Amino acid sequence: MSGITYGQLICVICQSELLQNNKDAAALTCTGCGLSYPLFAGCIPIMLPDSVPYRVNAFWQYQKHLREARATLAELRKASTSVAAAARASLLDEALSTNGGYIARIQQQLAATLPTALLAQPAERFRPLAYFSSFSYLKRDWCGLPADEQEIQTIMEAVLAGMPAVIGSQAQVLVLGAGTGRVAAMLKDHFQQVYAIDLSLTMACQYHDLVEQGAIRFYDIQSKNARTLAEQAREQWATVGLVPGLEAGSVHYCVADVKQIPLPTNSVSAVVSVYFTDTVPLKDYLPEVKRVLEPGGAFIHFGPLEYHFSDISAHLSVEEVREVFEAHGFRVAQEQEITTNHLFRPESLACKTYHNWSFSAVLADKEKPLNQQVKATSVPLAEYI
Ligand SMILES: C[S@@+](CC[C@H](N)C(=O)[O-])C[C@H]1O[C@@H](n2cnc3c(N)ncnc32)[C@H](O)[C@@H]1O
Repeated sequence: MSGITYGQLICVICQSELLQNNKDAAALTCTGCGLSYPLFAGCIPIMLPDSVPYRVNAFWQYQKHLREARATLAELRKASTSVAAAARASLLDEALSTNGGYIARIQQQLAATLPTALLAQPAERFRPLAYFSSFSYLKRDWCGLPADEQEIQTIMEAVLAGMPAVIGSQAQVLVLGAGTGRVAAMLKDHFQQVYAIDLSLTMACQYHDLVEQGAIRFYDIQSKNARTLAEQAREQWATVGLVPGLEAGSVHYCVADVKQIPLPTNSVSAVVSVYFTDTVPLKDYLPEVKRVLEPGGAFIHFGPLEYHFSDISAHLSVEEVREVFEAHGFRVAQEQEITTNHLFRPESLACKTYHNWSFSAVLADKEKPLNQQVKATSVPLAEYI
């Protein structure tokens, strides 16, 4: 793979610089503690302190997904006793096999990075990680469908409105839980360097494959709420052309946990969190966000507070999130409420509508008054509720 560099990534344990011994080396090595960070498929840094258990865990998670897909296929084939049932079995067979083939390829690549002894015994228990078999964000982000492009445009407008005024040719941005990378990709024209992190290897692979290959063929599978059989599994092509000029190196995208961000202290001007703030308890990653932001830099949130974890004590309301940021030395710069149809499928009988909270907060820069730190785009939330 050509054109890949890893920018300012640092060790998540001792924060020292990393070295790739030669351009074909399969890992980045910490110059401080010597920890090795594998480059998955030769280009995706896995920036976790415990990358082996992570990879073993991911292997078994993929295994479970593929086993379940095979069982579903067997059921469908068994049920193909009429022409109509055979038609749906055939369509879903093609869809599940195509998507399963993509997942199986990642799983095989993963197996090749691990000693066979570690995969000899099926893991009794593994920690299920979300977004390991999802193609929904690939559809929304990279297929150019009108409803999806509308959602992306709305998100981007809100994110750019929350940016600190100081962003310029030298500025860097970090996108948390970046998914398939569309928002990160679109930020490339606004920043000198874009970093993106996500804990899902599948998400990272989808982004990298897209940039490397130019396109990914898959099926958008929605067995529920479909008006027609065709809608239950529709062939889609994700194409990189939606972001002109996007290439390897436009975004430094790695697998990493938001609780241990592999970037130096005070290194980014903005941290962007789109549909992510409610994925991990805020208290677990705010210290890291604050560490990597430079003074005057902004945290920009877009999305609901739907909370995808069970610890109710961390299910903060809008006003509590605002207070937490203020208590950590941030000043609220901009907020508004923006309604979107999330992951919208016009043909579906169901639709998820979010009244997204668009919020940005600036880490106080003692040197400058706040009105020089943010754009004057603030809209009081009270006007919307
Ligand atoms: C709801 S999705 C949003 C994806 C993307 N931001 C978007 O809007 O398209 C949440 C993302 O957060 C990622 N994620 C979950 N826990 C994480 C963690 N601890 N560190 C980094 N990413 C994480 C998931 O893998 C998933 O891609």
